[in-house]
Amino acid sequence: MSTSSLHNKAQAWSALFSEPMSELVKRYTASVDFDQRLWRADIDGSLAHAEMLAAQGIIGAQDLADIRRGMATIAQDIESGAFEWKLDLEDVHLNIEARLTALVGDAGKRLHTGRSRNDQVATDVRLWLRGEIDGLAVLLKDMQRALVELAAQHTDTVMPGFTHMQVAQPVSFAHHLLAYVEMLARDGERLADVRRRTNQLPLGAAALAGTSYPLDRERVARTLGFEGVCQNSLDAVSDRDFALEFSAFASICMVHVSRLSEEIVLWMSQNFGFIDLADRYCTGSSIMPQKRNPDVAELARGKTGRVVGHLMALLTLMKGQPLTYNKDNQEDKEPLFDTVDTLRDTLRIMAEMVGGITVKADAMERAALRGYATATDLADYLTKKGLPFRDAHEAVAHAVKVAIQRGVDLSTLPLEVLQGFHPAIEADVFEVLSLRGSLNARNVLGGTAPAQARAQIERHRARLAG
Ligand code: ARG
Repeated sequence: MSTSSLHNKAQAWSALFSEPMSELVKRYTASVDFDQRLWRADIDGSLAHAEMLAAQGIIGAQDLADIRRGMATIAQDIESGAFEWKLDLEDVHLNIEARLTALVGDAGKRLHTGRSRNDQVATDVRLWLRGEIDGLAVLLKDMQRALVELAAQHTDTVMPGFTHMQVAQPVSFAHHLLAYVEMLARDGERLADVRRRTNQLPLGAAALAGTSYPLDRERVARTLGFEGVCQNSLDAVSDRDFALEFSAFASICMVHVSRLSEEIVLWMSQNFGFIDLADRYCTGSSIMPQKRNPDVAELARGKTGRVVGHLMALLTLMKGQPLTYNKDNQEDKEPLFDTVDTLRDTLRIMAEMVGGITVKADAMERAALRGYATATDLADYLTKKGLPFRDAHEAVAHAVKVAIQRGVDLSTLPLEVLQGFHPAIEADVFEVLSLRGSLNARNVLGGTAPAQARAQIERHRARLAG
């Protein structure tokens, strides 16, 4: 079967060219090595286009049947690894189209009627990304569920809450974990929002200006499950803001995961000793036999750099491009692909690892006791007895100074000593100074009291069900 010169760049592109492309240019401009991962989206997009062309009477019923038959063979061959990808054919689109023509002849050559690779690639990337978004949404929920279930076991486990990395006030470990659940829930909302704007059909924009064939774009959109049709052909082929948005979402999400990772690394260090990680998530050292390192958390933190880097790459890629399509856009793929791969692997492994956390509640509690975490509670206690808060703050500062000198916690100072800082202090102060008293006292919506955390856990469980 003959292939046209368009389909074999060992020859020139077309009759217009007097010599073939140089080898170096061929390698430099080809994308098939990486964009072949779009193959299924490319075939789905082509089938929807062909079906519409036939329905509109632009190609014949036999052409459509031939195209379907050829594409079925191609899909099988790609899946089995038998498909021969050719660098000469530049990208995934030309590889598949050339193979189709080789298999079914003229019908294959008719497929590209009313279409350009410009609207084709924009459609493929959106279709592919939509599928990945749906997979990531599930993983984001899995990660939240893992955190919620760990939290459910620790609504009464006290740890020091930190500001400036200094012990500030007691919080429950559940409350701390649920903060990350909130962040990831917002990431999920952002992702759903990105999906809506990604899920718009560019096909029909053709090269840039639309096409003179009577296409039914709405029909193609319905076939492919797009929510709408891009309303401006120039915009459709040229913008990649859906990729930018996705990349921004991914960067924010990775930053959240990175912050948790940093805490896991800290908590596992001997100086904190708040948690232990199951051996299957740790690595050893080639020289120090005693080591068990939290490499997974460190890598999640480290890989955040590349995802944020990809966002910068994509933003920079777009900023100087005049309308409409420019070959620059071929560079959108590798950053986008790597972003998806990195986020997917990170969410999956982190969700698993959270399930492998052992909490050392005693160490957390000791750390909370060491840092005068209930000093604010004592100030609040005096304020409730009528002292202006600033005076109470000052009286408690004196108490903390004495406690530090004696090397004890506020709750172990004798009542007479405490009364020396203010006569309004009575025996009921000791409940206030206890870690659990402090926790229970913060029974405001969003606060760290166990009752609040339990309510939040139920809310999250209901939200994440199904
Ligand atoms: N491989 C190209 C890309 O990824 C496909 C579109 C090529 N269009 C063109 N006019 N050269 O952007």
